[in-house]
Amino acid sequence: MLNRLFDIEGKIALVTGGAQGIGRMIAEGFARGGAKVYLTSRRADVAESAAREISAFAECVAIPADVSTPGGVVELAREIERRESRLDVVVNNAGKTWGAPLESFPDKAWGSVIAVNVQAPFTLVRELLPLLTAGASASDPARVINLGSVAGRKVEPIEAYSYSASKAAVQHLSRVLAAELAPRYVTVNTVVPGYFPTSMTAHLREEEARARELLARIPLARLGSAEDIAGICVFLASRAGAYVTGAELVVDGGLCGCA
Ligand SMILES: NC(=O)c1ccc[n+]([C@@H]2O[C@H](COP(=O)([O-])OP(=O)(O)OC[C@H]3O[C@@H](n4cnc5c(N)ncnc54)[C@H](OP(=O)(O)O)[C@@H]3O)[C@@H](O)[C@H]2O)c1
Repeated sequence: MLNRLFDIEGKIALVTGGAQGIGRMIAEGFARGGAKVYLTSRRADVAESAAREISAFAECVAIPADVSTPGGVVELAREIERRESRLDVVVNNAGKTWGAPLESFPDKAWGSVIAVNVQAPFTLVRELLPLLTAGASASDPARVINLGSVAGRKVEPIEAYSYSASKAAVQHLSRVLAAELAPRYVTVNTVVPGYFPTSMTAHLREEEARARELLARIPLARLGSAEDIAGICVFLASRAGAYVTGAELVVDGGLCGCA
């Protein structure tokens, strides 16, 4: 019974930026659960090689895509439309950050970060709505999962001004879309990761003192793992998550909750 409650076998999912980092963890988690997964990367070879490895668990298809422009996002949606007549889950995972001291934080660190982290999730949902609603029902809605960040919920010492603002924005955008799309049986939630060992956080882990300081701030005293992030996304994608919408699911070892 419990097994079936968390079952995602046969679902069709798209994970942007699913070839590496957190997206890869989610894509593999979905495939291990028997879902068919589409993943994107800006580099065709990177996407292909990740999809080949993930295909050990279930069908996984690579799509080269750049979501930093609306045109790139629309092209991605058309590509999915050419291949499928419905889509059950979209994970807006692709993300960009920019770190620099306040005094020298450049204006160019705003547009590109907002484009990938906020506008792309919006445009992708807008363009994929026909596919998302095609298979959606009251008991089994389509699922949109947006990636937020603890930096969008609380003040983190990371000098990533546009990034933090973009994550707060996507978290609120998720609630706005959740309200709008509930009558069409599409849920929209934000998964809010704490610190995971990906290339985005490499600079925080390189220096031993800085890495120690980071771990000391995390109540559960470790970084997040692939199972931590995949688990929450599988939950949201499964029957168990069907009644959750407009929510922020924080996966951060207690950073936010215990503060
Ligand atoms: N790592 C953490 O601790 C942490 C914490 C909180 C939130 N997050 C969020 O989790 C998500 C994944 O981050 P990550 O840690 O896995 O970082 P990452 O290893 O740097 O990966 C970033 C991902 O975003 C994709 N991406 C970036 N720009 C893109 C573009 N223009 N078009 C398409 N894809 C693009 C990359 O794809 P390609 O390079 O393959 O094209 C890559 O898969 C992000 O939204 C991030 O903000 C991460």
